[in-house]
Amino acid sequence: MTTAMNPQIEQPTQPMAMSDVNVTDLVEKATIQAESIGEVSPSDLAHCLEEYTFCRITGLVKQADIRAARKRLADQFTAENDHPVIGEDASMVSTNFQKLAIGHRRASGNYWPRFARIIYNPIMAPDIYGLREAFVRTAQIRNLCMGQPVDFAVSGVDDGMWTCSRIHHYPAGGGFMSLHRDVVAPSVVSENGIAGGFYQPLVLLTQKGEDFDTGGGVAEIDGHVVEYEDYANMGDIVVYNDMTQHGVNDIDPHKLYQQDSLAGRMGGLVTLFKKR
Ligand SMILES: [Fe+2]
Repeated sequence: MTTAMNPQIEQPTQPMAMSDVNVTDLVEKATIQAESIGEVSPSDLAHCLEEYTFCRITGLVKQADIRAARKRLADQFTAENDHPVIGEDASMVSTNFQKLAIGHRRASGNYWPRFARIIYNPIMAPDIYGLREAFVRTAQIRNLCMGQPVDFAVSGVDDGMWTCSRIHHYPAGGGFMSLHRDVVAPSVVSENGIAGGFYQPLVLLTQKGEDFDTGGGVAEIDGHVVEYEDYANMGDIVVYNDMTQHGVNDIDPHKLYQQDSLAGRMGGLVTLFKKR
């Protein structure tokens, strides 16, 4: 098969912000400022996502809390806890559990290679890093987007669903996730009768310019694929839906990858999983 015939190879892995777009303005328009979850209007969220396929919520998660949690994470981290890419028992993801996420990933016709580590820290498991507050806020944003009660599946199992909160760590030295649209989690949501649709919020746990220099999260905003972490900060929650292309551009490829290091970029996710 030639390259020209293979759409997987043609897929861009390093999209650049379009030069004719003022990305600062674009991200600013897609931003909601709030100090508490009660200040977030579900209709404002819905409007933002409909208009831009992306929304940034700033002010809900405090940077000081994240810095403290990152310190606790660093104190407990060891690469010896890394598990292989596949093969874990399904029940492990509902515990504090660490694995590598490397390789070509294919599911339901989608294809998204990645090079990352996943540190599962579910809301139902012990809060060993002090990230509970940040995960709860992020899950509440997910619920508002989906038209669910604000505390749906936040602290336990509701309607057979629970929150698989976890850290995605993209290591310095080339951590990445290629551009894709989510297909698995949206089907879990639709199969379980959540009519409001699928939304994937994540809380930024690192700061571009401090924790890593190049690369970072990319998403399609109003039709333009942009490296949004140039215009966002640690503690911001960003949301996209199943129509939004997103990924992570190579993190600090000028550095040497080290498995025993947490250097690089981290985001916290709160995907709804179905209870088995
Ligand atoms: Fe995704």
